[in-house]
Amino acid sequence: MPKNVTPPTDLKASNDERPEGDDQRSPEPPEAVAAGAAGETTVCVVDDDASNLQSLETIFGREGFRVFSATGAKRALELCRKHRVNVVVTDLMMPGTSGLELLRALKQVSPESQVVLMTAYGTVETAVSAMKEGAFDFVEKPLKRASIVKSVRLAASHQKLLAENRALKQKIELLTHREIVGTSPALRRVLEVATQAAPSMATVLVLGESGTGKELLARFVHQHSTRAARPFIAVNCAAIPEAILEAELFGHERGSFTGAVARREGRFAKAQGGTLFLDEIGELSPAVQVKLLRVLQEGEYEPIGGDTVKADVRIVAATNRDLKREVQEGRFREDLFYRLNVISVTAPPLRARRDDVPLLVDHFLGVYCAKNSKPRVTPTPAALARLVAYDWPGNVRELENVMERAVVLSRSAELGVDDLPESIAQGDGDAPRGVMSFAVGTTIDEIELVAIRETLKQTRGDKALAAQLLGISIRTIYRKLGEGDAPGP
Ligand SMILES: Nc1ncnc2c1ncn2[C@@H]1O[C@H](COP(=O)(O)OP(=O)(O)OP(=O)(O)O)[C@@H](O)[C@H]1O
Ligand SMILES: [Mg+2]
Repeated sequence: MPKNVTPPTDLKASNDERPEGDDQRSPEPPEAVAAGAAGETTVCVVDDDASNLQSLETIFGREGFRVFSATGAKRALELCRKHRVNVVVTDLMMPGTSGLELLRALKQVSPESQVVLMTAYGTVETAVSAMKEGAFDFVEKPLKRASIVKSVRLAASHQKLLAENRALKQKIELLTHREIVGTSPALRRVLEVATQAAPSMATVLVLGESGTGKELLARFVHQHSTRAARPFIAVNCAAIPEAILEAELFGHERGSFTGAVARREGRFAKAQGGTLFLDEIGELSPAVQVKLLRVLQEGEYEPIGGDTVKADVRIVAATNRDLKREVQEGRFREDLFYRLNVISVTAPPLRARRDDVPLLVDHFLGVYCAKNSKPRVTPTPAALARLVAYDWPGNVRELENVMERAVVLSRSAELGVDDLPESIAQGDGDAPRGVMSFAVGTTIDEIELVAIRETLKQTRGDKALAAQLLGISIRTIYRKLGEGDAPGP
């Protein structure tokens, strides 16, 4: 096939310099160097025309880019597999594999690498279709030095943004990856039951004090079920105002009530095929209890103002209330309780599995050091002993908060007794129980927050009891603690 390329006169002039590398001579340093420096731009030029290749090497070399070159697609792919190449600049028409085919193969091998095509007169149409397949840009031959450099610079910055975005996503994924840490027999027993229950459609009721990991257990059940690839939708029944909870769960049609200006999908619909986690189930109003019972019994429900919908949703519910007592006292429907309580698992309080404390300490120190970009902090034996001895009324959540605080305030790689909150450092014995004191000038907001936290400690995390003692609603507690589950999007 005749090559319809005129050697780019504009480029020719600079051919006197030795290229940085070519098919045979590429220095190919260790991956760490090639991929490392964030600012460095690596370009792979592909052309079967040797003189064109050399000109490009020179141009990009002068721009300070690291340059690899290949006379064909096969070698280009090899190079991209081996090194992190930001931009591939390829001729469109080449004997054997064309630039377009290279583009397609590259999307498999190195999807983030950007491709700039060099096209000869008369092949612009092909270049346009290549753009549709994901090429970043095309430049026409004969090449203009300025335009090819500009195009490659743009492509490189685009590629770097993509890579940065992916790296950040991975970091978030790593930080938010909620694995259940602990090897204590008490925790293992719970995980065994959860694992057995997971593959079935049985409703699971997760019980346990506040902060023991009930939500984590609910996610565990979902992840070990056949629905793992489908959505896991969590609803905090206590945090959503009673008046809108029904609409939030079941959805509504447009105009079904004042203010329903548009149709809205409920959480049941969002969880279709997956798992719906109903947190703080003890807070459901009688009206919503009836509707939920119907879904559990009949497998169907009606969005407000809408027609009956079949529900293919697995329910996992959680509460830190004593639901049996709620039933006895007439606040929770007995029939609903039995429907929910098909399999129940109780997350053990942390004080009942102290052997997990060192593992959790290590886990959270790792998470928060990474999150705060701090060097790894480790506890001294004395500090660890206090942490193990402490009673943890707020359970794992409290331990997590203590570790986050310690990392944020840390000035050395060691977490000592002095770095712990006073109640833990001194042992609870020294702190007067049930007494709060504030410095004059403390804001009402702060006083409220301390009052809520201290009361929760006394009630061992029982928010309903704390609300009663404080004379406020449980919703107010959630709001003040900032643990609300904002009503959906
Ligand atoms: N075994 C565990 N391993 C790692 N992290 C845990 C563990 N248990 C709980 N956590 C963490 O502690 C925090 C509280 O857990 P979670 O929200 O599941 O508790 P909860 O029982 O639902 O609390 P609440 O009753 O207050 O809603 C979360 O950040 C969770 O990731
Ligand atoms: Mg919870």
